[in-house]
Amino acid sequence: MAGKRPTETAAWAALTAHHAAIKDRHLRQLFAEDPKRAETFSAEGAGIFLDYSKNRITAETLRLLLDLARERDVAGRRDAMFRGEKINATEKRAVLHVALRAPRGTRIAVDGQDVVPEVHAVLDRMGAFAREIRSGSWKGHTGKRIRNVINIGIGGSYLGPEMACLALREFTDKAMSFRFVSNVDGANFTAATDGLDPAETLFIISSKTFTTLETMTNAATARRWIVEGLDTEAAVAKHCVAVSTNTEGVTKFGIDPSRMFGFWDWVGGRYSMDSAIGLSSMIAIGPERFAEMLAGFHAMDEHFRTAPPERNLPLLMGLLTVWYNNFFGAETLGIMPYAAPLARFPAYLQQLQMESNGKHVDLDGNHVAWQTGPIIWGEPGTDGQHSFYQLIHQGTKLIPCDLIGFCEKLSPLAEQHDLLMANLFAQAEAFAFGKTADEFKAEGSPDFQTPFRVTEGNRPTNVILADRLEPRTLGSLVALYEHSVFTQGAVWAIDSFDQWGVELGKVLAGRIIPELAAKAAPTHGHDSSTNGLIARYRQRRGW
Ligand code: F6P
Repeated sequence: MAGKRPTETAAWAALTAHHAAIKDRHLRQLFAEDPKRAETFSAEGAGIFLDYSKNRITAETLRLLLDLARERDVAGRRDAMFRGEKINATEKRAVLHVALRAPRGTRIAVDGQDVVPEVHAVLDRMGAFAREIRSGSWKGHTGKRIRNVINIGIGGSYLGPEMACLALREFTDKAMSFRFVSNVDGANFTAATDGLDPAETLFIISSKTFTTLETMTNAATARRWIVEGLDTEAAVAKHCVAVSTNTEGVTKFGIDPSRMFGFWDWVGGRYSMDSAIGLSSMIAIGPERFAEMLAGFHAMDEHFRTAPPERNLPLLMGLLTVWYNNFFGAETLGIMPYAAPLARFPAYLQQLQMESNGKHVDLDGNHVAWQTGPIIWGEPGTDGQHSFYQLIHQGTKLIPCDLIGFCEKLSPLAEQHDLLMANLFAQAEAFAFGKTADEFKAEGSPDFQTPFRVTEGNRPTNVILADRLEPRTLGSLVALYEHSVFTQGAVWAIDSFDQWGVELGKVLAGRIIPELAAKAAPTHGHDSSTNGLIARYRQRRGW
């Protein structure tokens, strides 16, 4: 592990002392002391404006957090990532999602081999295919054009495409429908195909490994649905394509490699929405818009790589997360997009952040003696305001939140956009400043009610503003969080790019699957709880 453990750095000790000194200072006080606070604590890059002034920080906090980043060599690790070094140490892999959006002609090498030409070769093939589908020149088996695209995939092979399809709905081809099947629950497949004509339906089977239980099961179901619906095996060729790194698995499944779009082991699943995994997004918005999204990603990559630390958005956001997570003991981070089209953004960020930074050992394999990734959750504003915001305002837990909004309207109903944004600004204000007993009393609040009405404030937020929710901005926004996650992982000295923790459940499910078969012998091999649950399930199923 390069460098000292995070807790052994001078900055960590200084931050611990500094936290003790300022933890009770109120944002009211901090704003009163510095009329230029909003200006001091805001930054802009790649089309994204970040106002982080409503955080419980001072100039000294920022200085110490930047010291921590220096001591933990965040910049050195970032540069190693961009150079294609194998920073995913436990899997001995490079981490090069930044190569997926590198412009033609850039050189990024893995094991001495420039990967950028391959990236663009796949993008070109995707573009040609997307154009064929969108124009109707690609015909289904019966000669009908494709009107429905269903992405079958889970985790990183699903959440990004679904999030993007909803976020960019305004830019999608409305003559087509885009649906997603992820869950092994057959109800997901049944609902997604409900009312669709197989002759007009294309399945994109997306799986990095092409071994994932859910995806392989749903892919087999899709194949049956096509063959039965169109009465011939031959129909599969026109109605199923694959996205994967596993050519052999795809071929074995019965999809010709000419209908497969590849990517590489140096793309993590949760970092893959801008690889061929984004094929459904590209068909939905068209190759030109997809290229704009990649340009947005790249702009944020360049910002992260080159902007000075005190103006570097992902670095700042990552360090602020560390500040609350490790010094205030906050357990969660709320993501509240004030944009209904970003409804699935919190779910997308859950995988991105929690699968990346939910780790209990450091890069040396030693148990960490510091907290790692926070719980990520959230819902769009204003819905959340009428549901769980009460707890953020008046509960006993500290819950930092990111509030995300856009200056341009998200729908033709312009006046409603002002209402939406007024709510975002008001919530950030209320979280920060609250309302005191004196203020309530001055308004004539009855004494008995006043304590219940008081909102203390001092609830931290980042406000993230962009002009317009469009492909370019979405790319920048996703890259912002990717690099914030990177920053956190670098500070915590963990491998943000493996996900060993998901394996055990998969193995145990594999063991239980045959035990649920009608003809299987009764199960005894587990603990009494698992044995009992399996027995009860089988009994209720009548076996
Ligand atoms: O089980 C977790 C995981 O491996 C994720 O990391 C990944 O995004 C998802 O499953 C799907 O994997 P695949 O794309 O290989 O089907």
